[in-house]
Amino acid sequence: MSIGMPSASPGQGDSVWHTLLELDCVTVRFGGITAVNKLSLSIAAGEIVGLLGPNGAGKTTALDTISGLRTPTAGRISYAGEDITKRSAHRNARNGVRRTFQRHQAFGWLSVEENVLVPLEWSTRGRGFFGDLLRLPHRQRQTRELLQNAAAVIDECGLADVATAPASSLPIGQLRLLEFARAVVDAPRLLLLDEPTSGLGTRETEQLGELVRKLAADFGTAVVLVEHDVDFVMSLCTRVVCMVQGAVIADGTPAEVQSNPEVIASYLGS
Ligand SMILES: Nc1ncnc2c1ncn2[C@@H]1O[C@H](COP(=O)(O)OP(=O)(O)O)[C@@H](O)[C@H]1O
Ligand SMILES: [Mg+2]
Repeated sequence: MSIGMPSASPGQGDSVWHTLLELDCVTVRFGGITAVNKLSLSIAAGEIVGLLGPNGAGKTTALDTISGLRTPTAGRISYAGEDITKRSAHRNARNGVRRTFQRHQAFGWLSVEENVLVPLEWSTRGRGFFGDLLRLPHRQRQTRELLQNAAAVIDECGLADVATAPASSLPIGQLRLLEFARAVVDAPRLLLLDEPTSGLGTRETEQLGELVRKLAADFGTAVVLVEHDVDFVMSLCTRVVCMVQGAVIADGTPAEVQSNPEVIASYLGS
């Protein structure tokens, strides 16, 4: 698959990260509510980790905290060997952390294509992606490659037919895929997905699963997938973590977690 730029994959002067992301005793409180309670979690490049748990378990707050939208009340987060506990979401995004939201956040007035190009504007580090079209030949070449890459991702997400349509005209399933396309256009190192299949049909869900699998396999992207579709999680993820009331109650292979009595009692039901 053509998603991605080489800089986003491990290697190229980096040592191979045994652990890409590490949460050490991370706690997030909102007033009297402890949304995330001493969460410790370590995720390696290429892992696809399903994060399950009932509503209110703290899954979205955990993703917010990893991405830098929220600073933990206590604990430490490291990413690619650096302490990112207090780093901004913007800086983390530049370093290859991408996420999608439980409620889609596409720019309705922009076309599908333009929405997908937004993170490429960031990845030129403020030098101005659209401006590059007018500048140095090597920058123009780079820019052309980015545009081709965006077109390929749009195609792979099944959005080629609506590439020039405004995002606001899309049905919810396509909007979710658009948000996914935008998150993966430059092959993130760490991809955080918050309930990505809600609003998707069966075929779109399969397509999304296939894209996630390829990202992890081809680019070593580590994926954290918050999802209520248990079958989807169990078939896609290499590892599953279950949270209840802010804390991890199980962490293991899909089979281990699915048969864990505590997970059955507090989430999966009998
Ligand atoms: N911005 C906020 N202010 C106050 N409480 C919040 C906020 N966001 C989440 N919470 C609370 O934190 C807990 C965890 O929420 P959340 O992370 O959204 O759970 P999940 O995504 O697992 O459903 C819930 O009790 C929720 O009400
Ligand atoms: Mg949530």
